[in-house]
Amino acid sequence: MDVVAAFEEGLGNAASHFQAAFEAAHDEPALRAANARYVGPQGVVTKVMKLMPELPKEQRRGLGQRVNQLKEQIEAAFAARLDSLLHALRNAELSGHSLDVSLPGYGAWLGYAHPLTRVKHELLDLFTSLGFDIAEGPEVDLHENNFDRLGFPPDHPATDMQDTFFMQQPVGVNPRATLLRTHTSTVQIREMLKRKPPLAVVSAGAVFRRDDDVTHSPMFMQLEGFMVDEGVSFAQLKGVLTHFLWKLFGKGIPVRFRPSYFPFVEPGGEVDVGCTICRSWERGPRECRVCKNTGFMEILGCGMIHPVVFEHVGYDPERFTGFAFGMGLDRVAMLRYGISEVGLLYGNDPRFLTQL
Ligand code: PHE
Repeated sequence: MDVVAAFEEGLGNAASHFQAAFEAAHDEPALRAANARYVGPQGVVTKVMKLMPELPKEQRRGLGQRVNQLKEQIEAAFAARLDSLLHALRNAELSGHSLDVSLPGYGAWLGYAHPLTRVKHELLDLFTSLGFDIAEGPEVDLHENNFDRLGFPPDHPATDMQDTFFMQQPVGVNPRATLLRTHTSTVQIREMLKRKPPLAVVSAGAVFRRDDDVTHSPMFMQLEGFMVDEGVSFAQLKGVLTHFLWKLFGKGIPVRFRPSYFPFVEPGGEVDVGCTICRSWERGPRECRVCKNTGFMEILGCGMIHPVVFEHVGYDPERFTGFAFGMGLDRVAMLRYGISEVGLLYGNDPRFLTQL
């Protein structure tokens, strides 16, 4: 076959089939593949064009025009088909299943504060509403702030190695110089050294003792409060604490003050509230494992700040008086939520915590 015939045949074939080939392509990749069969590097039309130089001179121009026309037709047909395929796709998306972005979604689980944190905030709120300031102290403190300035004698059993976590010290430094505070009463000393009366302060945080059983954890949370001014009386201590306990456990719950001893208060006392498990003050005496049938549960220690403490912080004990109290937040949370083991509060087991 001569070159002109081959050229004519290729051209004719392409011209008569490209439309149908494009129509038969039902998505974009298929259409692009069909297009390549005509005008791609190996395409029929491309091959035909390669014959151009071999064509007789006098026919080259006419045949060249025809091949260019065909290429334009193919290009236009490709663009039109691509456009209609993309439109069809978009219409299918619009008329198919719709995504309603205004529907409520599947919410993620929301975290919430640990029960001890909640109790802490609730108590701090209560005391700030009475005019107390909030202060914080470090968990590692000096022996002086934890014991000596509070009037603990050097041989007091609480300062014993058995009860207290001392920090490791370099050789030559007193091995008891710093410790994990055993109570929040350290904040009394720190605040009184910083400020002058009148002052009323609460502070909450972790404290540490070498105890570990169902009612004691080696780390636990305390809340401390104290007030110093001229003429602060035991009656005010009773008033503040009774108000506080009624707010916390309900108005009318029995509140009992018992004498007790702490080196930094005189007189000192402990306060019990009616057992919230058996509520024997309402329902009469009954068997109760939690209060051991006493009808009361101990909730805090308190007293009038000892003059020796004032001397250690440079306050005039002839002029100022004050009261102080301290309580275990774990104990409050246990009474509040009816929890029988303190360890549960520190176990971080969501099966337990999500019940509160
Ligand atoms: N700090 C005492 C304790 O941890 C509690 C307390 C505080 C007692 C303030 C009296 C006054 O047991």
